[in-house]
Amino acid sequence: MKRKLFVTTALPYANGSFHIGHIMEYIQADIWVRFQRMQGNEVHFVCADDAHGAPIMLKAEAEGITPQQLVARIGAERKQYLDGFHIGFDNWHSTDSPENTELSQDIYRKLKAAGLIYTKPVEQFYDPVKGMFLADRYIKGECPKCGAKDQYGDACEVCSSVYAPTDLVNPYSTLSGAKPVLKTSEHYFFRLSDARCVEFLREWMGDERLQSQVANKAKEWLDGEGDKALGDWDISRDAPYFGIPIPDAPDKYFYVWLDAPIGYLASFKNYCAKKGIDFAGFLADPNTEQIHFIGKDIIYFHTLFWPAMLKFAGYKVPDNVYVHGFITVSGEKMSKSRGTGISPLRYLEIGMNPEWLRYYIAAKLNSNVEDLDFNPDDFIARVNSDLVGKYINIASRCAGFIGKRFGGRLRAPAPTAELREIQLRAGLVREYYEAREYGKALREVMLAADVANQYVDLQKPWELAKHSTRADYLHEVCSEALNMFRLLTVYLKPVLPALAAEVERFLDIAPMQWADAESFLPANHAIQEYRHLMTRVDEKQLDALFEIPESAPAKERKKVSDTSKAGSQSHSPAISAPSTPHPASPGHQAPTAAAATILIDDFAKIDLRVAKIVKAEQVEGADKLLKLTLDIGSEQRTVFAGIKSAYDPATLEGRLTVMVANLAPRKMKFGLSQGMILAASGEAPGIYLLAPDSGAQPGMKVK
Ligand code: 2FM
Ligand code: ZN
Repeated sequence: MKRKLFVTTALPYANGSFHIGHIMEYIQADIWVRFQRMQGNEVHFVCADDAHGAPIMLKAEAEGITPQQLVARIGAERKQYLDGFHIGFDNWHSTDSPENTELSQDIYRKLKAAGLIYTKPVEQFYDPVKGMFLADRYIKGECPKCGAKDQYGDACEVCSSVYAPTDLVNPYSTLSGAKPVLKTSEHYFFRLSDARCVEFLREWMGDERLQSQVANKAKEWLDGEGDKALGDWDISRDAPYFGIPIPDAPDKYFYVWLDAPIGYLASFKNYCAKKGIDFAGFLADPNTEQIHFIGKDIIYFHTLFWPAMLKFAGYKVPDNVYVHGFITVSGEKMSKSRGTGISPLRYLEIGMNPEWLRYYIAAKLNSNVEDLDFNPDDFIARVNSDLVGKYINIASRCAGFIGKRFGGRLRAPAPTAELREIQLRAGLVREYYEAREYGKALREVMLAADVANQYVDLQKPWELAKHSTRADYLHEVCSEALNMFRLLTVYLKPVLPALAAEVERFLDIAPMQWADAESFLPANHAIQEYRHLMTRVDEKQLDALFEIPESAPAKERKKVSDTSKAGSQSHSPAISAPSTPHPASPGHQAPTAAAATILIDDFAKIDLRVAKIVKAEQVEGADKLLKLTLDIGSEQRTVFAGIKSAYDPATLEGRLTVMVANLAPRKMKFGLSQGMILAASGEAPGIYLLAPDSGAQPGMKVK
């Protein structure tokens, strides 16, 4: 039966541009949505700007504009990112909208009628100059424990002690500098601790609708005792506040986190009105599934408040909340305010292919709440070796013959055992996509691509083409290979929608659904001219991605270049090798042009040492690296070296080589690399480790 799906991603705050973390989440959800559509399911996929709250109000004030103007400006930026990365939301709306006001007030009224809302006085710091209550992040003062100045109201960054803002010595408002005063006001609370809520949530969570890690965390909160007991939720904020007014409560507004998730419904309602869909009817249908993709930092809101609010206001409750981890870059954590060293807009502006990123992110995603590391080396390898080297390669090796030799017409496939094998993988790949195990899905697809490549390698169409007597067989081989390529394209389409559209143009076929993997292209089917479908990533593009334009403020340049160093280092080889191109002639390399002149002092900065390889090991999951343990006399170092293609680890143990001992340690995917060994290489294959003459001892200086 056709599934009815309402899918959302977390609503981004409307006070800043998207960072790579947002894009990763949208790509994850977009792949799932596209996959579901290919199954023939009905999917509505929406998002919106999370517009309300004090930070947005204050930012707008600082810029001398209204919060609405700020939200509109940020909202107008969104499209270029979404279109740029082929993220196909059906609707983008805002929580500062009539739909959200109406829905939030309706939900509140129903919760009130259910006896789940109450008020009580709350004493809080108030800025007498700004005339507003202060959230903890707007209060600083001296740490009550160690006396450190300018500490935030919740914890000391110097001595790590935790306290309440009222414990701060000499507190001040970060907004005006004024000394805050304690003031009481009436706040509205949602009675989350009510036995009905607890009972409902326990049941809801127990239904296997959450990932086990998430369900465990949520149950821990639900069953907390003592000072960890589940508390009621303060849902009101006093004016001035940019938010939705609470009905019958002058100068009180809903706390932004109350109306934010309701924004999911508001965006869907706005979409339904535009499309003539019955909003209430769609959600009331027991077959409808409501699915939220979110990050691990907002589990609390989505697994406790949100389902409870919906349930007791008589709305549909979420069927699944799918949680993902954060994205890191070369192992570095992302900063909330500036994201990571990767700017999604810069990625697009320098002409990097958005589908490379979609593919890379998909290849690294699974259904767990794990962080995903963007590693430049790994990015280049996966795109160039797998996506282009394995998949695109099949079409580029066979399409030309069909066009030039057979009038662009295919033969009916045999079908060979290889084609059948590739076809058989459809079921497993589908299961993996459904379960959000994209990494596993793509691994299956690449194994299938290996089967296709082995077929082409074996049949050698370029050889067949040299013999006129083999024309028939050439026709069969190329038709077979293009059928394989078509099946692989079906499997990759959720991840690579633009590429799949280009393949559909080239094969001259209608947009492919999953069920199309059950059949082959018929005899005599005419294809269009083959145009190259995807280029390889150039290492220089990664350098450009991490480089900050000269026009950026110096502070920003420094910050990002620190990150970029980690990035660009990690995609330079772990061994030293001439990088200038030179003619290849195995065994006798033409000399390369010398690099720019340096002074002896420059050279002296490099601490080169004789190193003994005491251990050499394979690195699981690494294509190029070996893990070396080096003895340099005074200590042992671990170095990851890109010499796997040239050396069997067993032959390295006991050998002497030369290492750069004062290279800054570099965090790699597989561990910390504490230096670099030296080797020679040229255009032709081969890597040649440097070795000192006999008699040299570990730790000796090389100069
Ligand atoms: O953490 C955030 O970025 C929030 N703006 C997410 C809101 S998700 C939903 F509740 F709207
Ligand atoms: Zn302290």
